[in-house]
Amino acid sequence: MGKAIAVLGCAWGDEGKAKITDVLAKKSDFIVRFQGGNNAGHTIVVDDEKYVFHLIPSGILYPEKICVLGSGVVVDPFELIKEIENLEKRGISLENRFLIDSRVQIIINKHRELDQKGSGVGSTKRGIGPCYADAVSRKGIRFADLFDKELLLQELPPKEAEELFEVGKQIEKYHQQIPYFLNNATDKNILFEGAQGSLLDVYFGTYPFVTSSHTIKGGISIGTGFSKNVETFGILKSYYTRVGDGPFPTELFNRVGETIRKNGNEFGATTGRPRRIGWFDAVAAKFTTMINDIDNVVLTLLDVLSGVDFLKICVSYEIDGKIIDEFPANVKSLKNAIPQYLEIAGWNEDISQITDFDKLPQNAKIYIRVIEKLLDRKITMISVGPDRKQMIHK
Ligand code: GDP
Ligand code: IMO
Ligand code: MG
Repeated sequence: MGKAIAVLGCAWGDEGKAKITDVLAKKSDFIVRFQGGNNAGHTIVVDDEKYVFHLIPSGILYPEKICVLGSGVVVDPFELIKEIENLEKRGISLENRFLIDSRVQIIINKHRELDQKGSGVGSTKRGIGPCYADAVSRKGIRFADLFDKELLLQELPPKEAEELFEVGKQIEKYHQQIPYFLNNATDKNILFEGAQGSLLDVYFGTYPFVTSSHTIKGGISIGTGFSKNVETFGILKSYYTRVGDGPFPTELFNRVGETIRKNGNEFGATTGRPRRIGWFDAVAAKFTTMINDIDNVVLTLLDVLSGVDFLKICVSYEIDGKIIDEFPANVKSLKNAIPQYLEIAGWNEDISQITDFDKLPQNAKIYIRVIEKLLDRKITMISVGPDRKQMIHK
């Protein structure tokens, strides 16, 4: 019997999902994206070689795995072809192991143009929001429509219709009915690779400063047609980051924040923007691990905190004079939230080569145990560097 697992970002994205996907994909047969589009930037490092994926699931580096885009993904076909060509140049072939559901929504010129004009939330300007908006307005163009020239000519300016029809021919071979493909493969191990993070979910994130898809566990069913049991791995950074606009209660504006940005190389993998940096927020993490029913918490980038004298973890917020430990549903409250911190002494040792939990410095162990206690969930994996080998299994 096959097993289904999911890698879900539990903050504002860039938690290191791709690295964990890469580690877990070793035992998987299919790696499936279920939402988002090329707004994602997923980085994998293998033996000093760096790969950044935007649309193609991170499992593609293993030659025998099948990679899938489910119905909930939005696809920019021109960007997809560029990504495929770049991978092929590096010797990675997608032949017979890349599939796209007929139902995916297609990003067209209008979507990119609207997003370029300004989304008001600091979007990646890839046309994601306008594409999902057209999808729910029942005006979208879906993958299967690319093979219908008459329909394209009715819906789009002639030049764009021609171009899309041509590009459709190039990617037609990937076309598949993904709900049947996944549900019939009962003996296969499936890994669902989330993009963005729960705090960017269109319903549960810091609305309106969110992306336009369902990034949480429920998005898997919506975005693939697969609704069987899924074991969840919730990815949390050892500190927090955010790109784009929106509230960020534990944000740091001081030297410590700058050091973390520099040591963690915190610049966006898609847009190159410097990421905003803040302390670990247990209020937010308790909320996101709850709504995703996280079975395994994975803590990433712990190595980046080496050398920071004192670490802080936000345990509650003070909002309008009241102490609150629930993540507020509205942005106004979050903007007024004053984080209440617990302070923990840091460590100086380089931990990036440690693979055994017991060998971690005492204060790093305390930091991990405090987070486990606050979340009331087990941390089962700790990442101490970008490479697949830099991993502690607890
Ligand atoms: P994703 O969008 O969640 O897949 O994350 P990104 O790839 O956008 O950002 C994570 C960054 O951190 C990438 O540059 C990774 O190579 C890097 N990374 C992942 N895990 C670790 C880790 O444990 N330590 C360090 N130093 N870097 C890591
Ligand atoms: P990965 O998968 C971090 C942010 C943007 C913006 C908001 C809306 O690499 O974790 P959009 O282009 O989706 O309409 O932008 O969401 N955002 C991300 N932030 N990581 C991502 O992806 C993101 N994808 C979108 O910065 O604030
Ligand atoms: Mg990223």
